[in-house]
Amino acid sequence: MDAYKSGSPIYLDYNATTPVDPRVAAAMSPFLEGGFGNPSSNHLLGIAARQSIDGARAQVAHMLGASSEEIIFTSGGTEANNHAIIGAALSRRQERTHIITSAVEHPAVLEVCKHLQGRGFSITKIGVDKFGMVDADEAIAAMTQDTALVTIMLANNEVGNRLGIGYRNNLSLMAYEYESNLRNGNYGHGY
Ligand SMILES: Cc1ncc(COP(=O)(O)O)c(C=O)c1O
Repeated sequence: MDAYKSGSPIYLDYNATTPVDPRVAAAMSPFLEGGFGNPSSNHLLGIAARQSIDGARAQVAHMLGASSEEIIFTSGGTEANNHAIIGAALSRRQERTHIITSAVEHPAVLEVCKHLQGRGFSITKIGVDKFGMVDADEAIAAMTQDTALVTIMLANNEVGNRLGIGYRNNLSLMAYEYESNLRNGNYGHGY
């Protein structure tokens, strides 16, 4: 910590973690320093906390083009990945039991996939090229009518590259191809 304060080292690990942005610290400080209400409590402090959380949720939803009901705050990445992957997989378990992921996912994803593999799901891991990009064609080819979920990171935590959305190797293109294949009956049954 002293080394960090002295300013002498050059920190090059922003993929792993960054200092707190002063604007974030300023926004949080009223709650850390006094506004401690439980947002589920039905008194003034609780109601104020609830309003702050609802306001933050609406801001995040607006930023992502989502609705507030779709935003769930978690304690961090591992919890979020567990919720999203296990939730999506189990909700489709009756019809589909195949999951596609990439070979370069964080353990917070790969371990969840392993957990689901032990519970009857099959997992396909897509490789990456020398730039660390997923091969969209390989992912599209891996999709079957049994595919319940494709879970691929947006940005890699080791090398910092962005894997998909908005690039040539486009994840939304994969979703589109999958949808078209389903619709055209290329997996056996059209709809
Ligand atoms: C890509 C990625 N996913 C998940 C995690 C796990 O996040 P957390 O430590 O918040 O549980 C990390 C942590 O560095 C990460 O880099």
